[in-house]
Amino acid sequence: MKEEFAVSLEETRERIKTARERLGKDLVILAHYYQNIDIVRAADFVGDSLQLAQRASKQTEARYIVFCAVSFMAEMARILCQPQQKVFHPELSATCPLAEMAVIDDVEKAWKLLTATGRRFVPVVYVNSRADLKAFCGRNGGFVCTSANARKAMEHVMGQDAVPFFFPDENLGRNTAHAMGISDDEMFLWEPYEEISPDLSGVAGKKVVLWRGFCYVHVAFKPSDIEEARKTHGDINVIVHPECIPEVVRLSDYVGSTSYIKSTVEAAAPGTKWAIGTEINFVERLRADHPDKLVIPLKEWGCREMARVTPQKFLAVLENLVEGRAQPEVTVDPEDARYARVALERMLAIT
Ligand code: 13P
Ligand code: SF4
Repeated sequence: MKEEFAVSLEETRERIKTARERLGKDLVILAHYYQNIDIVRAADFVGDSLQLAQRASKQTEARYIVFCAVSFMAEMARILCQPQQKVFHPELSATCPLAEMAVIDDVEKAWKLLTATGRRFVPVVYVNSRADLKAFCGRNGGFVCTSANARKAMEHVMGQDAVPFFFPDENLGRNTAHAMGISDDEMFLWEPYEEISPDLSGVAGKKVVLWRGFCYVHVAFKPSDIEEARKTHGDINVIVHPECIPEVVRLSDYVGSTSYIKSTVEAAAPGTKWAIGTEINFVERLRADHPDKLVIPLKEWGCREMARVTPQKFLAVLENLVEGRAQPEVTVDPEDARYARVALERMLAIT
């Protein structure tokens, strides 16, 4: 692989264009909204995690998929695409810290203890998770969900008279449950880091079990950031991602996934003002795309892991493909892939 920083940004842009043209229809580039602008410009499709899952599952023509986001999202594309296709990621070690907060051994231990209480649980795993956890859900009648359809997944489970066991993002689970009219008293918080066995007597009568995990980017937004934005800009609308803490969600005017934030700001009248509580790359682009509105970040706060996918590393993957070196390729254990696909397909079916 070439020395990435030996190449200037200008040269990188030119070479991305050339490599992209040479790969033609053999290649599809999928990118998350949080990605760097040069990657977004080169992508065939940009979306939030649900849209990217939907797109990956329909991508039947291209031989290669280059997926730019944190690596669990590229794993998801690997699981959903056709077996003959190959998926590549510019920086496989760019993992999501939230996804690392639940590991299979701990989840299996929790599952054993929860199901031993005699209540019926259904596991619901946020897409920000390792493939083996998605497989766990596939094997146990559960679902994957994203921030765009967490409510649908929870409603589906509760409609079967079961209790959602939701991991690893506590805030998304709690905010979703609040939106469904469930109070904090009706939720049980699973503490994965405690040595002693939890007291499970409290599970009786609870409507939801949540795992204590969080996204370090979204928990950085504080009620004081909202107060500050309102003090400075008066009638500004505050819109945040549901990985934010419940107090921030409560004080905001709108809450939703990245695509929801995008479509809400797009549909707003010229002259309206928006303070946005999510990843900075995305907010900056939204600001550039809507000069007729005031769009500001609630706080300048980026995802370091998403940013590890640089234009230079992206270029290296494309040039590797042009030169016949298929790497870095995304692989998933076949058994995990099989069951993870079951849980992802259940999600797509109810969305
Ligand atoms: P979306 O589901 O909105 O794409 O969010 C994914 C994510 O990683 C948010 O931090
Ligand atoms: Fe993970 Fe948070 Fe980054 Fe999203 S913003 S990829 S949840 S660390």
